[in-house]
Amino acid sequence: MVAAPLEAPKISVKDLRLSYAGKQVLNGISFEVQKNEIFAVIGPAQSGKSSLLRCLNRTIEFVPKAKASGVIEIDGLNVDAIKNVYELRRRVGMVAPLPVGLPLSIYDNVAFAPRAAGFRDKSALDALVERCLTQAALWDEVKDRLHSLGTKLSGGQQQRLTIARALSHEPEILCLDEFSIAIDPVTTMRIEDVLKELKRDMTIILVTNLVQQARRLASRTMFLWNGDIVEVGKNDVVFSNKPQSQKTYDYVNGIFG
Ligand SMILES: Nc1ncnc2c1ncn2[C@@H]1O[C@H](COP(=O)(O)OP(=O)(O)OP(=O)(O)O)[C@@H](O)[C@H]1O
Ligand SMILES: [Mg+2]
Repeated sequence: MVAAPLEAPKISVKDLRLSYAGKQVLNGISFEVQKNEIFAVIGPAQSGKSSLLRCLNRTIEFVPKAKASGVIEIDGLNVDAIKNVYELRRRVGMVAPLPVGLPLSIYDNVAFAPRAAGFRDKSALDALVERCLTQAALWDEVKDRLHSLGTKLSGGQQQRLTIARALSHEPEILCLDEFSIAIDPVTTMRIEDVLKELKRDMTIILVTNLVQQARRLASRTMFLWNGDIVEVGKNDVVFSNKPQSQKTYDYVNGIFG
């Protein structure tokens, strides 16, 4: 019998090490993310989750004294070899824990990046703004006030605006870093539904402190602890009664003291 060929990973991380001013925070981690999956990263504070995301789109280069080694490949291409780092950051979108609205209208928040990239056609831009706001489940709430300030929206709406803005770059990979930290459970569930839709078109890396959110949304989850991978695997193993590591069981079941 011939085994079905495994699909090449969308992202491959090999032996990634990271230190800040000599203090090591990622200790040589290796894992892969498949195309069109939601891949969750869980772990306690300071385990290195946000730092890992910064390595993926090379925004780690903004941090003085940060030193990374290892290999990160996207579609088989080493990200360090990508000359146009803006193109890399367009492909790997990032949604921060707190909404970071530009002091612009709702429309201009979403149109900002496409305009900067030279997009000029008004009706095409209108269509793109509508599509991104619809994908972020915000369109119906804002379609009548597209030209009012984005910063006047509620926290949950601003977080969806941040997602719409990330989508305006048409990313292949969308990284979300604790997107629900400042929003209510109902809005969180709405955005979770949005993510389930979006994974048809992109690969999603979901950093979350909410273990149940990882369980609900992801197909696979990675548990980071002090810069090491405790366990990475399918959710039906990680969240089962018998994950590979007792530490995983204790963490996902809230037994940690
Ligand atoms: N810019 C920085 N300069 C120096 N040290 C940093 C910097 N950013 C993070 N660190 C350190 O790196 C370690 C990992 O931090 P990181 O923010 O990646 O963790 P995290 O898992 O995202 O935590 P949290 O759940 O609190 O967001 C921590 O010890 C943190 O203090
Ligand atoms: Mg973090």
